[in-house]
Amino acid sequence: MARKRVAVLISGRGSNMAALIEAAKAPDYPAEIVLVLSNRADATGLVTARAAGVPAHAVGSKSKAGMETEIDRDLTDAGVDIVALAGFMRILSAEFVRRWRGRLINIHPSLLPAFPGLDTHARALAAGVVRHGCSVHFVTEGVDEGPVIAQREIPVLRGDTPETLAARVLIEEHKLYPRALAMVASGTARP
Ligand code: GRF
Repeated sequence: MARKRVAVLISGRGSNMAALIEAAKAPDYPAEIVLVLSNRADATGLVTARAAGVPAHAVGSKSKAGMETEIDRDLTDAGVDIVALAGFMRILSAEFVRRWRGRLINIHPSLLPAFPGLDTHARALAAGVVRHGCSVHFVTEGVDEGPVIAQREIPVLRGDTPETLAARVLIEEHKLYPRALAMVASGTARP
């Protein structure tokens, strides 16, 4: 079966993007990363992607509508099948989400439906939860609300800070996202 063509949308560091690029090097991986887009020109993930031989550029438009038109055109031009959001810090419009529905996924640093939105690690600690982790989900109109594809859990440890917790969750994110993308690309996970 032909490998699915995947674009990764980032805003910064791009460590999850790098994990996807690395996983897709395996000949039997069901997807290939064909494009990386960033809404920020200074995203270090753009440099990482290019170093790995993946075409990567920033979208120039400042307005949301302009940015989405540009992204949509770039995705279509590159023949993209699946869009993976990886630390992409702009909320996409309902129209964009509808157009890519079932083919648009996101990684979120909490065990959804717990802690949608920002500052998940600090909020998890404040809530006193004993398990935390990360989720990959299909993107729907509501922020961090779509059906969960896969999750990984870790224990919250005594003395954890938002930073130590974030670092341990990130290790799990790098394992989870390649697995979840493979599930979507192979058709094992459906919205
Ligand atoms: C990750 O924790 C991801 O779950 C969240 O933003 C962070 C992005 O990190 N949405 P990176 O850019 O993938 O390194």
